[in-house]
Amino acid sequence: MCGIVGAVAQRDVLPILLEGLKRLEYRGYDSAGLAILDRDGKLQRTRVLGKVAELSAATAAEPPVGGTGIAHTRWATHGRPSVDNAHPHVCREQIALVHNGIIENHESMRETLRGEGYEFGSQTDTEVVVNRVHAHRASGRDLLAAVSATVAELDGAYAIGVIDTDEPDRLVAARRGSPLVVGVGIGEHFIASDVFALLPVTRQFIYLEDGDIVDIQRDRLTIYDHTGQVVERPVMTSELAADAVDKAGYRHYMLKEIFSQPVAVADTLTGRIEHGQVLDTAFGMAASDIFSRIEHVHIVACGTSYHAGLVASYWIEALAGLTCRVEIASEYRYRAHVVPENTLFVALSQSGETADTLAALSLARALEYSACLAICNNPESSLTRESDLVFLTRAGPEIGVASTKAFTTQLVALLLLTIALGRRNRIDSELERRLVAELETLPGHINTALQLNDAIGQVAEEFSHKHHALYLGRGTMLPVAMEGALKLKEISYIHAEAYAAGELKHGPLALVDEDMPVIAVAPNNSLLEKLKSNLQEVRARGGVLYLFADSSAGVPAEDAVRVLNLARVPETIAPIVYTIPLQLFAYHIAVIKGADVDQPRNLAKSVTVE
Ligand code: G6P
Repeated sequence: MCGIVGAVAQRDVLPILLEGLKRLEYRGYDSAGLAILDRDGKLQRTRVLGKVAELSAATAAEPPVGGTGIAHTRWATHGRPSVDNAHPHVCREQIALVHNGIIENHESMRETLRGEGYEFGSQTDTEVVVNRVHAHRASGRDLLAAVSATVAELDGAYAIGVIDTDEPDRLVAARRGSPLVVGVGIGEHFIASDVFALLPVTRQFIYLEDGDIVDIQRDRLTIYDHTGQVVERPVMTSELAADAVDKAGYRHYMLKEIFSQPVAVADTLTGRIEHGQVLDTAFGMAASDIFSRIEHVHIVACGTSYHAGLVASYWIEALAGLTCRVEIASEYRYRAHVVPENTLFVALSQSGETADTLAALSLARALEYSACLAICNNPESSLTRESDLVFLTRAGPEIGVASTKAFTTQLVALLLLTIALGRRNRIDSELERRLVAELETLPGHINTALQLNDAIGQVAEEFSHKHHALYLGRGTMLPVAMEGALKLKEISYIHAEAYAAGELKHGPLALVDEDMPVIAVAPNNSLLEKLKSNLQEVRARGGVLYLFADSSAGVPAEDAVRVLNLARVPETIAPIVYTIPLQLFAYHIAVIKGADVDQPRNLAKSVTVE
């Protein structure tokens, strides 16, 4: 989704803006731009269709020199990717504005502004905002008052940054529903969509709350809440290293993140288990009390996080003996609900900024849940701020758009939750000790699975010219297959669908021939024999099989059957381990196809608009 960077400083801000945008590239975007107030008080704007490197090149010949500027990476919503639609948008060479979010009442505002003589050069919803700020400035308000008056007229979600040639040492920013942080410097201040963008210039951050407006000048910054009152927001020190977002020698962030999973999983377990027991406090101080009453669990999430929720539903029902429902957030938020007494609501999100998941949480808070738990990888997200209980996965920053280590650490969190909830019901201390011991072996099992990297690279070679694929799994391996198919779609652009293996005969078998490869995940569990029968059905139709199987599963490699053997893994943690080869499989295919692995076309890392 769109990324914002802005600065008010004595020094030239061009390099800060460009570096900030580079660090936001992972969010996904199609065009980029910046505007700087130069030393003559004029707006210098550059916009490009394409990458930040092209923006950098476009400013290289005559770099704009000035201490106040805003910059943006755009992920198109209203209007196709183009230079005209790229931000910043400028009104009458005076006001420049960048925006992340969607303005829902832009059409009516545009009509009114046209009536007042304003012209529009783009198809975006954003351009009404900059024109409206200008109209309020023209009626005598200063920039702060003009932005306040404008945001009061907006329906929808926004994070904006605005500069003005008539007030050159000032940047006014505001947020509602879209993320925005303020970077606090010494004699200089910044804004950005997230802290990564600003780590080279500051470690001190203020997380703005919904409805906040911030007036930023070099030597002071003032925050106003949604009622217009001046408010103090805490300044937090980021623990993230500035190089937390480098590739550490790997070719892509995604590969680095796949290989960091043993550590990410170990970090997520650290301090959460003790003497063979899960510590309830990992979910918050009130967790013990709340968990003791829970009989039902509702999990809500999007994308990869939704798949983690689906795996957890098998664990929660089978191990903890509680009923569990899992739903996509964009569906959950728009329907009526029956919430049984003693139900825990779980919002699952890597970023904690996904618009649909946040809206689902806000709906859930108005319903009769016992409590809302956020499982999140971002400690300072809107999701964690708005939940009663919080479990932080410790995957570290995830930059590749296709989620990998966030998924496996979410699964760890969900298995810990299953144990904590089940302790009051079906999980006795012996079972708890066994499950905790299995969790502790996970980093080792993941390391072993990673050793398949080269073998998977070779198999990927012959697969890469395919156009479609079917993924099959049973039980907890069904959501793992769904996640494998999603990875392949996201980064290699090969159409892939996952099916419950038992559903094969009910439709997808009609598609199977030598051009429709079938990928199956086959740990040696109670469902193996049934899965093998499904695979025979594929073989009998001339289908080519790619099998990720337990070495003792007894599936021989033959002409049209490629078998990648995994070591024996305890059944409960198998979904976490079997995810690894599927991530590598999608990764290698995407690399062979020459796709943009870390920033796949049309996708965004954090979907902050509906
Ligand atoms: C986007 C990302 C996915 C992610 C999904 C949910 O689609 O590209 O990788 O799974 O959003 O994100 P969340 O941050 O809520 O887990």
